[in-house]
This record gives sequence, C-alpha cells and structure tokens, in this order.
Amino acid sequence: MAGSSGPIKVGDWVAVVLGLEPLRGRGTTVELLAVEPSRCGRFPAGYVPSVEDCALVLGGLTALRAVRNGLRVRRGDRLLVVGAGGPVGMAAIQIARGCGASVDAIAGRTALERCRGLGAEHVRDYRSPEAEAMRGSRSYDGVVVAAGSPAAWFGAACRGATAALTDGGSWLPSVPAAMRAGVHSVPIAAGHDCDDLTWLARRIAAGELVPVVGRRYGAAEVGRAHAELGSGGTCGARIIDHRDAPAL
Ligand SMILES: NC(=O)c1ccc[n+]([C@@H]2O[C@H](COP(=O)([O-])OP(=O)(O)OC[C@H]3O[C@@H](n4cnc5c(N)ncnc54)[C@H](OP(=O)(O)O)[C@@H]3O)[C@@H](O)[C@H]2O)c1
Repeated sequence: MAGSSGPIKVGDWVAVVLGLEPLRGRGTTVELLAVEPSRCGRFPAGYVPSVEDCALVLGGLTALRAVRNGLRVRRGDRLLVVGAGGPVGMAAIQIARGCGASVDAIAGRTALERCRGLGAEHVRDYRSPEAEAMRGSRSYDGVVVAAGSPAAWFGAACRGATAALTDGGSWLPSVPAAMRAGVHSVPIAAGHDCDDLTWLARRIAAGELVPVVGRRYGAAEVGRAHAELGSGGTCGARIIDHRDAPAL
C-alpha cells in the first residue's frame, strides 16, 4: 500500500527516498531500483511530477518531521527557521505557514528574498547583527535548526519550547546547552514512511509546496556538484540531472 488509497499500480508516479551515507556525506545513485511499497508515496492520478519536484522529497520529509512531529506546530505559533535557505529550511517555512504559524527565517544572503517569497516574515542574514540579536530573544514557540550551532539558537526559543535539529549528529553534544536554556531539543530523521511521502506528493501536486532549485548539474558534473556543496551562496536544492548521461 502507499498511503490510504489502495495498492500502487503500474503507471503510478511515486516518491521515494534513496539511501544516504550520512557519515561520509554521500548520496546514492542507481540505474535500477527495487523498493518496498511501504517506502513509496504516491502522486495523485494524472499528476506527472517534474524534475524539480524531486528536490522536495528528502528535504520536505525532514521538514515535515521537524514541523509536525518535532515541534507540533499549531495555528498562531511563532516559529524560527535557522538555515532556511537550503531544501530543509525552505520546505519548513512552507509547511509551517500551511499549518497557520508565522515564520521568521535565518539564511545566507543569497536566499533572503526567496525565503520572504515563501512566506517568512522577518528574514535575516545569519552573519548580520540583527540575527545575532535574535539569538537571545526568547520569543519563539519552536525553532528548526537546519544549520549552524544549535546551542547558539536555543535562547531564541521561549522556555519550555522545542528545538528540532535536522543534523542528527548535533543533537547529543547540544543537550547540556538545551537543558541550561530550558528548551526541549529533538533530533529529526526524514525516514521513509509511505503516508508521509504521499502527504508530500499530494501537497506538491496541489502546488502547496513549491520546489526551489538553486543549482543544476549535468551527469558529467557530479564532481563539481560535490565540490560546491557547503561553499556558500545556497538558495534551495541542487539537482544532478542524469538524463543526459551516456548509456554504458
Ligand atoms: N537536504 C536534505 O534533504 C536533508 C535531509 C535530512 C537532513 N538534512 C540535514 O539538515 C541540515 C540542512 O540541510 P540542507 O540541505 O537544507 O542545508 P544547506 O543546503 O546546506 O543549506 C543551509 C542554509 O543555511 C545557511 N547557513 C550556513 N551556515 C549557517 C549558520 N552558521 N547559521 C545559519 N545559517 C547558516 C546557508 O547559507 P549559505 O549557503 O549562504 O552559507 C544555507 O542557506 C543539514 O545538517 C543536513 O545534513 C538535510
């Protein structure tokens, strides 16, 4: 089954998450793939996903888990997304706005306008004095930390609020700082639940979640794509399009 709408049929478009190697910072590439239906989300009948839509799957799942499961965001909540210029942060802004929360964002300079366009209200460059001042503001009901040091942002949350950390490795070292700040911190993993994937696929098809692609690479540019990762100037996802790869 994929979601609650019956078994997957031949011809259905599905969303899946491929394996990652987090400790090596590498992704996965495949030619043929066998996937359990329980790891597939299904797009609505008649919707043909675009290449750009793929950019929402992993970041979107992580953001969904952070906003819905980690922070349990409700209408009227005030949320801060740190590291908002990447795929996780941009999806988190959109999902939280869809839940009726107001969202402020901290991102790199290149992504500021785009974050505003996605619905963030106050958007600050993470290198600016204004961002520095927000670190101790104690004004947010929840914080998504998708970049930078989590400990630096716990003071932006109200006491008793929750911070969702999308870099699992940063959770344990930051627990003492979270306790000192009186903030619950939770590590977030995307997972591959078919209901979550189908939830995302439906929002994508409805235009309620918009993919943002900052850079595109051809199959011959895999090395450059990896080399540029983390080099700054992020605005959304990076896509490596293998469709022009020569047949082996
Ligand atoms: N992408 C995914 O699908 C995915 C899935 C699961 C987990 N994760 C994890 O979630 C985190 C975010 O991933 P991502 O791919 O969305 O990130 P990303 O593409 O690297 O984007 C990070 C954003 O944060 C900004 N930034 C960099 N340093 C910062 C700092 N010190 N303070 C505040 N903002 C800062 C960057 O700006 P500049 O580029 O301008 O410096 C950029 O706007 C990572 O830890 C990743 O491992 C990602």
